[in-house]
Amino acid sequence: MPARYRGVEMAIFPIRTFGDPVLRTPAEPVDDITNALERLVDDMFETMYDAPGVGLAAPQIGVSKRIFVADIGEGPFVMINPEIVATSGEWAYEEGCLSVPGKWWEIERAGFARARGLDLDGSEVVYEGEELMGRLLQHEVDHLDGMLLIERLPRRIKKQALRELRDEALGLRTAD
Ligand code: NI
Repeated sequence: MPARYRGVEMAIFPIRTFGDPVLRTPAEPVDDITNALERLVDDMFETMYDAPGVGLAAPQIGVSKRIFVADIGEGPFVMINPEIVATSGEWAYEEGCLSVPGKWWEIERAGFARARGLDLDGSEVVYEGEELMGRLLQHEVDHLDGMLLIERLPRRIKKQALRELRDEALGLRTAD
């Protein structure tokens, strides 16, 4: 049964997975914040919480627009047209993605990141943080650039990961 929120029925979308071309396509900037866009954001939150996940980018539900939603346990937030404007340090962390279900890889990224974008009112917002927050910002902006976390793996590990994913897609191997 669909959840109800502000009297509006929300929808849970199927999450696109590895191999879907939308995940490799750079998303289009949002130039107008419409009612339809607000509705899309509601549906993205619903889909993210249902998964469950801590972040979801619009291409993951097949919408090639520069929007992500997130909640790392400090409350929900949305970013429209986000850009990473500062990073520092390094941090290796076991990272996963709703579009590559059941897989985790240790990935090194900046330890701190700051992102600037717009909220649903069209006001500028800045989110920043170390560790999980910094990781989330970098991971979601990558999605909007058409990049999955596999692209961040060292070459040799990436080749092996791609081989495993392709074999699983062909049914030659079962997922753990
Ligand atoms: Ni992801």
